[in-house]
Amino acid sequence: MSAPILEVDDLHVRFPISGRGILGAGKRTLYAVTGVSFSLAKGECLSIVGESGCGKSTTALSIMGLQEPTEGTIRFRGKPITGPGAPSRMARAKAAQMVFQDPYASLNPRQTVNASLAQPLKLHGIAGSEATDRIAAMLRSVGLTAEQGRRYPHEFSGGQRQRIGIARALILEPEIVVLDEPVSALDVSIRAQIINLLQDLQEQFGLSYVMISHDLSVVEHMSDRVLVMFFSQIVEQGGWGEIFENPQHPYTRRLIDAIPDPDAALGRARKATEKVHPVPPPGWRFSSDGSVAPDVFSPPEASELVDIGPDHKVRLLRA
Ligand SMILES: Nc1ncnc2c1ncn2[C@@H]1O[C@H](COP(=O)(O)OP(=O)(O)O)[C@@H](O)[C@H]1O
Ligand SMILES: [Mg+2]
Repeated sequence: MSAPILEVDDLHVRFPISGRGILGAGKRTLYAVTGVSFSLAKGECLSIVGESGCGKSTTALSIMGLQEPTEGTIRFRGKPITGPGAPSRMARAKAAQMVFQDPYASLNPRQTVNASLAQPLKLHGIAGSEATDRIAAMLRSVGLTAEQGRRYPHEFSGGQRQRIGIARALILEPEIVVLDEPVSALDVSIRAQIINLLQDLQEQFGLSYVMISHDLSVVEHMSDRVLVMFFSQIVEQGGWGEIFENPQHPYTRRLIDAIPDPDAALGRARKATEKVHPVPPPGWRFSSDGSVAPDVFSPPEASELVDIGPDHKVRLLRA
């Protein structure tokens, strides 16, 4: 297998929170990301799923170099993205770009679509007819017309606006695209169109995706590998088949049961229960079903992510 394009090694992000509680003023530590490791191969789609607040966006921002890790290393093509020898901002922009849940976050309401696509190109020394051609081609790739490039963000529907957000992320031809809940704000009827577009673009440009969603159904059809997060930690990670057809952690099974298509969910759930964890290694048991919410200000319980197959890890707790 070729060398990974992105490697995240034991990433920890903690936020010091100062505030005035009932016990008076003091500093507390919020555990946002705890010991997350994964790698991304070129052309692959790795999905990070888990409920709101589990640390997905903090992981995404760390990959983008927008959040300094408290501990751990993130390497792009083998080179650390922070610290001495880190790539410049310009180089980073060509390495990875991000698509946000709300495209308004990355679009200036007073700029036409053409102007907002021209801006990153200009920063990278591309202007004039070359820029115009690239913008027109990019608009076509995301299903918009050159004429629409002369309009302002408020003149578009939510789905079209996300197409613009995607065009803006892709205009510099990055190698990695981090998609943070790219369809969560859209009407259910529009979601499949955007997912299909993302898949087409991935193929057309040979992109590597880190796709983030709180909803497993969104990533089901495009993930090669899945990483399930629960309160700052990975609880299960593996290839598509391992996660969807052989889920071992109770929390993963809960997410699969929450997939809206009732027939499909039923079939999967049945399959999942048939295979309920064979036999955990001696001295270990599977962690709780996740119904008790840990306190984000307490360090997560130390437990081990154990290999249970060639491309399948599950977090266990000592019995
Ligand atoms: N800049 C920040 N300062 C303090 N706490 C933060 C900051 N960013 C995120 N958090 C906290 O970190 C945890 C993880 O947040 P986040 O990564 O946004 O989760 P998700 O994207 O999975 O919903 C949450 O408890 C959130 O409130
Ligand atoms: Mg988030």
